[in-house]
Amino acid sequence: MATEEREFAYARADFARVRQLIHQRAGIALAEGKAEMVYSRVAKRVRALGFATFADYLSILDDDQHPEWEHFVNSLTTNQTDFFREAHHFPILAAHAKALGRELRIWSAASSTGEEPYSIAITLCEAFGTFEPPVRIVATDLDSKVLATGRDGVYPMERVTTVDDERLRRFFLKGKGSRAGHARVRDELRSLVEFRPINLRDTRWDVEGPFDAIFCRNVLIYFDKATQRGVLERLSRRLAPDGLYFAGHSESLLHASDLFIPRGRTVYGKAKGAA
Ligand SMILES: C[S@@+](CC[C@H](N)C(=O)[O-])C[C@H]1O[C@@H](n2cnc3c(N)ncnc32)[C@H](O)[C@@H]1O
Repeated sequence: MATEEREFAYARADFARVRQLIHQRAGIALAEGKAEMVYSRVAKRVRALGFATFADYLSILDDDQHPEWEHFVNSLTTNQTDFFREAHHFPILAAHAKALGRELRIWSAASSTGEEPYSIAITLCEAFGTFEPPVRIVATDLDSKVLATGRDGVYPMERVTTVDDERLRRFFLKGKGSRAGHARVRDELRSLVEFRPINLRDTRWDVEGPFDAIFCRNVLIYFDKATQRGVLERLSRRLAPDGLYFAGHSESLLHASDLFIPRGRTVYGKAKGAA
């Protein structure tokens, strides 16, 4: 790593320290090849705090209560998401919700900026033909910034291109004035979703089950195997016996067949005997 052309001194050891810190805190396993990505993301924080080197900046994180931790973690998460991402999940959720015929609890367990929980909310409004379907959705993430965006529910128009026109008309309001070029999810949808911080790496979570559906999509891929296993065990305990688990497109749970059994493409039920 050539440090001469950089704004801040950044040695191999600094990259190794970042990897260690984010792994301990969030379970995120950064690959060897991510040194440049780490530099460009963390340099913004080094600059914001006025440090001259990465090493000086990183030393403040020796205090695990330091307020900078929040920004450090936020800078290293990957928040890519879309409305109706992995679209085949939503008709399955609608059929499941109607078949259960009870008040539903759904958890979007790495909700990023809110597109996933709002897609769930739209699906259930449509399934029950009302803006007040019998459902509570809990949306959680580790990253405080994305949670704030989710709570706000305001998206640039280019973020809603995966929402068809009819849904846009029914479920969003077009921004005016300072919010021109943006779409805002209707208050009825926002009131169905509660955003809360949860670090999936923690062994204690402030969310009680049972959930009728858990969406945990495109986050396990960032974790090492041991963290994945711990997360899956804790999620399984919070899934109702007849609940469904929705995984990301590249996340197979076949290695956790004692906890989850396949129910379709990237959809799982709870294995018999799982806690
Ligand atoms: C790629 S996004 C996936 C968003 C959405 N589930 C989807 O599939 O479109 C991954 C999200 O996981 C969150 N994340 C990463 N590590 C986490 C952890 N330890 N606990 C909770 N959320 C975490 C990130 O902040 C990010 O918002």
